[in-house]
Amino acid sequence: MYTYKLGHRLFNSSYVWSRSYSFKASPYPGQDSKQQIVIFGDMGKAEVDGSNEFMNYQPGSLNTTYQLIKDLKNIDLVLHIGDLSYASGYISQWDQFTAQIELIASRVPYMVGSGNHERDFPDTGSFYENKDSGGECGVLAETMFYVPSENRVNYWYSTDYGMFRFCIADTEHDWRPGTQQYKFIEHCLSTVDRQKQPWLIFLAHRVLGYSSGEFYAEEGSFEEPMGRESLQELWQKYKVDIAFYGHVHNYERTCPVFQNTCLQNASNHYHGIFKATTHVVVDVGGAGLADFSPFKARWSHFRDHDFGFVKLTAFNHSNHLFEYKKSRDGNVYDHFAITRDYPDLLACSFYYCPRTTSAS
Ligand SMILES: [Fe+2]
Repeated sequence: MYTYKLGHRLFNSSYVWSRSYSFKASPYPGQDSKQQIVIFGDMGKAEVDGSNEFMNYQPGSLNTTYQLIKDLKNIDLVLHIGDLSYASGYISQWDQFTAQIELIASRVPYMVGSGNHERDFPDTGSFYENKDSGGECGVLAETMFYVPSENRVNYWYSTDYGMFRFCIADTEHDWRPGTQQYKFIEHCLSTVDRQKQPWLIFLAHRVLGYSSGEFYAEEGSFEEPMGRESLQELWQKYKVDIAFYGHVHNYERTCPVFQNTCLQNASNHYHGIFKATTHVVVDVGGAGLADFSPFKARWSHFRDHDFGFVKLTAFNHSNHLFEYKKSRDGNVYDHFAITRDYPDLLACSFYYCPRTTSAS
């Protein structure tokens, strides 16, 4: 455990100090201990009395924050995958957001991804040309939060936490084959030692995998256009366990799916060899909820229209639990376990088998 205080030196050279905070050092990559990770997107902020809210656009954010604080002793790391504060260029709104998450971010790592509301603005180098960042162009997000990226302008990075490796993409910059980001994603997925870090997780703000959210259905893509076409062979080749997304404000879990086809029936318990990646939209941190398409694709296993978050628990190198909890009560509404030993990971998966030779 580490304890710390924040101080400020006044003009008369005296100091004012904050109260004491504490945090626990992170486990080293590969460490075998119980590790509990919370993941969600698009939380935003709100006030108890609604006093500063013009549109009440993030009605669920306080409930999500309260549930995390309540359970904080059972949370080691938080991943907020984009659309953080919805400040849209107003610094006071960032202050309100950081005050709201202070009890969490002062005690456990609060790692973030970049979304359209952090980055997008015309003619500034973002992949999309909309005005969703209100002119922030990522500057506020990259100043408020540390991410271990090689270049802070590009928000993609990898981070290891015990038995997990997280590869965090930046959907507001191009990810297609041939780009710098595509190279990063392949490097992140391919360099992890799965014997030590068996749980490989991919995260991105926009849905690069699968979503039956209404606006993706209306586009006819059921994903962010050019998403899985570009990346699915990497997820399959490197056996990504779970891919998480934000952007579409609802919850949805797929079967283990590759090329739009379930390679395994959806289940609450997967064991044995890896078949395909499970894709999860967990964009239910707090911003106003989005509808699903009435059409339900075969790969769509569980859909929910409510606020919540996902909690991953690695018990050890062979046992992993996924839980979707609602912000209203903290109870579990969807879950699945993965039980797998390292030799099972060595088995070749659909589409990717090593070549063999008859030479002896
Ligand atoms: Fe978004």
